[in-house]
Amino acid sequence: MLTYKNNDPYIEGTSLYDLVKVCQTPFYVYSQQKIIDQVNKTKEILGNNIFYSIKSNSNQAILKLMNSLNIGADVVSVGELKRALEAGFDPNKIIFEGVGKSDQDLLYAIHKNIRLINTESLEEIKLLDNLANEKNKIVDIGVRLNPDVDGETLSKISTGKKTDKFGIEFDNIDKIIKLVKSCKSLNLIGISCHIGSQISKNEAYRNTFSQMKMAADKFIESGINIKHVDLGGGFHVKYEDSDPDFNIKKVKEELDNCFTQTNYELSFEPGRYLIAEAGVTVTSILTIKNNGGINYLIVDAGMNTLIRPAMYGAHHEISAINVNSEEFMDYAIAGPICESSDVFLKNIKLAKQKIGNLLVIKNTGAYGKVMSSNYNSRPLPSEILVHNDNYAIIYSPEKIEKTIEADIIPSWL
Ligand SMILES: Cc1ncc(COP(=O)(O)O)c(C=O)c1O
Repeated sequence: MLTYKNNDPYIEGTSLYDLVKVCQTPFYVYSQQKIIDQVNKTKEILGNNIFYSIKSNSNQAILKLMNSLNIGADVVSVGELKRALEAGFDPNKIIFEGVGKSDQDLLYAIHKNIRLINTESLEEIKLLDNLANEKNKIVDIGVRLNPDVDGETLSKISTGKKTDKFGIEFDNIDKIIKLVKSCKSLNLIGISCHIGSQISKNEAYRNTFSQMKMAADKFIESGINIKHVDLGGGFHVKYEDSDPDFNIKKVKEELDNCFTQTNYELSFEPGRYLIAEAGVTVTSILTIKNNGGINYLIVDAGMNTLIRPAMYGAHHEISAINVNSEEFMDYAIAGPICESSDVFLKNIKLAKQKIGNLLVIKNTGAYGKVMSSNYNSRPLPSEILVHNDNYAIIYSPEKIEKTIEADIIPSWL
């Protein structure tokens, strides 16, 4: 993402120093061109049935950009559904899934006539049938299946093993068929799965595809007209040198080997792969200290800004922008939050740093800002979209005074 011109750091044609002048750190910056290139590459290899999983980055500007690239949206809450509609996605290109949906959520999705509501339990199928019936509508649905495939990823981002809470067990396919046939107001047209995030092994894709092919055959043999088979997201992004080299062309090879001739369309719902590498987080050094022999750089981004390292033990490379010394030091980089887990990296070698210097945390375009919080009553981070030598602040957080105002003091206090 970062390039250097006369020693100044640039994102596309925009100097990072110009961004720091207009926006207080910590903030996220995204490269529009990188997003466009990645979406186009994914479409070229996997085809046009891509539904961007907006949970990974749901800023309205990003959604508008994604929509302009002619892909659909995968949403997991009514809030996300409203975001996708507001950004201009055609309802027919929106899939709504999620392991727990309320009556109101389902009614809203029914009302908006979206492409598919993906159900995740037998009970949810029954509930949806009742709600659709009350509204006198026939609703197209999918079922998310749990293929019991171990994606061999971090346990906290695994979603496709039998014991994970997601989807309906394959063993229950007969029950789904029987139930759906008894539902007057539902039309089962799709099956879907998602085995987790950061999936790199071909074998995991191969096993998932073959399970899904068998499931589709079974539904079709029973007389159910499956039109869509959604094979999930989860494509791997390289966060550090020791990560495996993932090549999406291998996924396509597995796909072609498994699904030779089909009467249904195949689709994917990636998030991270489309946007992670197009974003960075810019932070400033607040203070420097040595505790127990460790040189800490305490920065203004914390786990409230980017929670992945504290939550999953995720690794993000960090580079120094200001190199004012020839001397190199081992540092630990930590945030200002009052939690011991608020540490981004331990043991990183950087040129000797000074208070006020800038650091850049890399590959934070996905699951970054969307997971930020006001913890410790800190403001949310801003976001900037860069387009050549143009940029725009695309999210400006509310002042902490406004956040305080949202609390309500009861009359007896
Ligand atoms: C159902 C579903 N689809 C798609 C995704 C997107 O995954 P990724 O960002 O790894 O591509 C997720 C992420 O958790 C998910 O749960």
